[in-house]
Amino acid sequence: MTDAHTGTRRAVAASFLSATLLASACATPAQYVAETPATTPVSPETSACSANVSLTSASERVQSLVSQMTIDEKLGQLNQAAGGRSKSLNSKLTPEELDKVRSGEIGSYLHVAGAQPLGELQKVAVEEGRLGIPLLFAMDVVHGYRTIFPVPLAMAASWDPSVWKDAAAISADEASASGLHWTFAPMVDVARDPRWGRIVEGAGADPYLGSRMAVAQVEGYQGDSLAAPNTILAATKHFGAYGVPTGGRDYGSADISEQSLMETYLPAFYAATKAGTGSMMTAFNDVAGVPSTANEYLVDDVLRGEWGFDGMIVSDWNAVAELINHGVAETEEEAGVLALRAGVDMDMTSMVLPTRIKSAVQQDDCLAHDLDAAVARILTTKERLGLFDNPMAYHDTKREAATLLSDAHRQAAHDAAVRSMVLLKNDNQTLPFSKAPQNVAVIGGLAEDKLTQLGSWRAQGKTDEVVSLLEGLQQSAPDGTTVTYAAGAHPSMDVESSIDEAVNAAMGADQVLLVIGEDYDLSGEARSRSDISLPKNQTDLANAIFETGKPVTIVLVTGRPLAIEQEAEAADAVLNAWMLGLEAGNALADVIWGDVSPAGRLPIEFPRRTGAVPHTYSEYPGGRPADADLSKDTNRFIDIPITPLFPFGHGLSYSSFDYGDLTSAVQSNGDILLSVRVTNSGDVDADEVVQLYMRDPLASIARPKRELRGFTRTHIPAGDSRTVTFTLSPDQTALYGARTGWVVEPGRIEFMVGASADDIRSRTDIEITEGRETGVPASAIATRVSVE
Ligand code: BGC
Repeated sequence: MTDAHTGTRRAVAASFLSATLLASACATPAQYVAETPATTPVSPETSACSANVSLTSASERVQSLVSQMTIDEKLGQLNQAAGGRSKSLNSKLTPEELDKVRSGEIGSYLHVAGAQPLGELQKVAVEEGRLGIPLLFAMDVVHGYRTIFPVPLAMAASWDPSVWKDAAAISADEASASGLHWTFAPMVDVARDPRWGRIVEGAGADPYLGSRMAVAQVEGYQGDSLAAPNTILAATKHFGAYGVPTGGRDYGSADISEQSLMETYLPAFYAATKAGTGSMMTAFNDVAGVPSTANEYLVDDVLRGEWGFDGMIVSDWNAVAELINHGVAETEEEAGVLALRAGVDMDMTSMVLPTRIKSAVQQDDCLAHDLDAAVARILTTKERLGLFDNPMAYHDTKREAATLLSDAHRQAAHDAAVRSMVLLKNDNQTLPFSKAPQNVAVIGGLAEDKLTQLGSWRAQGKTDEVVSLLEGLQQSAPDGTTVTYAAGAHPSMDVESSIDEAVNAAMGADQVLLVIGEDYDLSGEARSRSDISLPKNQTDLANAIFETGKPVTIVLVTGRPLAIEQEAEAADAVLNAWMLGLEAGNALADVIWGDVSPAGRLPIEFPRRTGAVPHTYSEYPGGRPADADLSKDTNRFIDIPITPLFPFGHGLSYSSFDYGDLTSAVQSNGDILLSVRVTNSGDVDADEVVQLYMRDPLASIARPKRELRGFTRTHIPAGDSRTVTFTLSPDQTALYGARTGWVVEPGRIEFMVGASADDIRSRTDIEITEGRETGVPASAIATRVSVE
């Protein structure tokens, strides 16, 4: 889409604090009279109510369609209906539903799939609808469609955006082959509170890492052209601060400062916007009392106005109607008006926009203008996808059969799973296991739980296509090695424990692989936990196994950081395997038997206890920075150490890496060059994730103790060295001031390079000589990296 939808910004409250729901520059009485039989005119462009849209810059086709549409047809385009449920797709596509399609009451369906059924539906829309407007078919393709990749938090642990980009491209290929045009992904909500169950769906705690992963996914899903039949539209979600609900309880209020909104929670949305995401989804929750689905300041002013986002915006499920529960609208009509005015184009399932705002629109020409703008954005999106020119491009059943779960896709899922695992602890080189004949006991019901490996959004993933952890280990055991199994306990209460049997199996083993953690149903939407230690039966099982005195390696299965201080202490090694998708077992086997060295890194720290969350390496220092000395009154707990159990960026390797000095240079254009030589000093070829952090030690407002500003995952053969060079713009040192917006302040900046946020190996300083306004979130800007 060209610059179709940028235009004059609506004159509303200019600051976060004064943003008000009810602000509207538009109180002019109706010019928009009751509908005349066939069509309504395209609403006038009036400066009094200019949303960020200029209808005249939409394509001629879109303008012409809008001018021919009745108000009911326009409202119908705003309707995204459920064509099924997430676990019974297409189940609601009844004959009555087809009549609604014919009469133009539906713009889009979600929870639908299949080249053939959706092809039939599309045919009805384009051949039997009055204006032949195609439907948009959507689904949550979040970490794979049929080929299921690791859960997103695990994908982020790869610290390799190219892995995400490839996975998203494969997901798009499969989903589009199955008739879909649109995924509700990427989920880019930065989250620092692992009590929140949806932490599993995002890239973790950091705005810089999150921005890189957001861009990779948008690029992967959308490819070079949305009109290509193997790409799909991304919906970056959940705009703007869904990842920080109070107390970690899903859907809760983000009661945060403007500073953290701008510096931590919005940058990934900005990065996705600049990467061209074709749509965004507003969040269920509110930011400081203003629900995102009605937040005119955030959606219309910031996202569309300042950032220039020109795509379509969809609400989250039923979120428009829920504005009443928030207490900002009394009736559904009011709720719909607020959402439309804020800039929401499509209503996911609440039916408020399609059925409750007609008379309000008829009485208010600004709203009529907003409606036309929304319809134009929806039609423009359909046009970008090529649906007007070739509506049947996504319905080739032969292509569908050839594409889903191809060998190449399975291989990509395998590679991604290997790259996602994080070795948290490895005393005495317990891992990898020797290939000499031995007896390995695999203990824990999660080892054979295939559903859990499919994670929280399993799309069309099928359990019988998953290689369980146990199967992977058994199938690849070295000659002479036996792999025995005892379930012991499974986190689900429905599965009976048999801990004695597990202890017996462990007693007869040389090595124990203790597979413990959460099952798929303990993380995800509406799965917040007040206590993020292991489920009780998992702890009981672990304690019984530790008592055997055998060497124990924990294989952690989880969708969130868990508080496993005691278990990690008692174990010889801990490998975080998250939920790895359908190649889980094969990938685990590669790492356990030492065919590949693990090199994933934590995208969020692991706390010692639930009470220590939320916490981040990137906090402000405060006036009394934490000191381990308990005789001093400082910013720490009295009952646990100030450090996390495993810090952000942490992950061990089967090799070891030495870092040289970090050197710096400033180029004539102001660009900052930082170089470090990294040597694989061990005897195993392995990847290292080189991490660059910065700190602004003296500024007009306090700055975080450390901020990630660059990284690269690079393979270094044993004994070899690589020089990693990061190139940054001074704009990446900017801070957000409430009065100034994004500004670079002159002064000294410290840069640090290391193997985690708490494992800094070398430092250097540079001097920023000139201040300037940038207008760009600093962590959304990508650092260029070269490796030689
Ligand atoms: C979730 C969204 C999801 C939508 C459709 C909502 O409950 O919050 O992330 O895209 O459902 O399945």
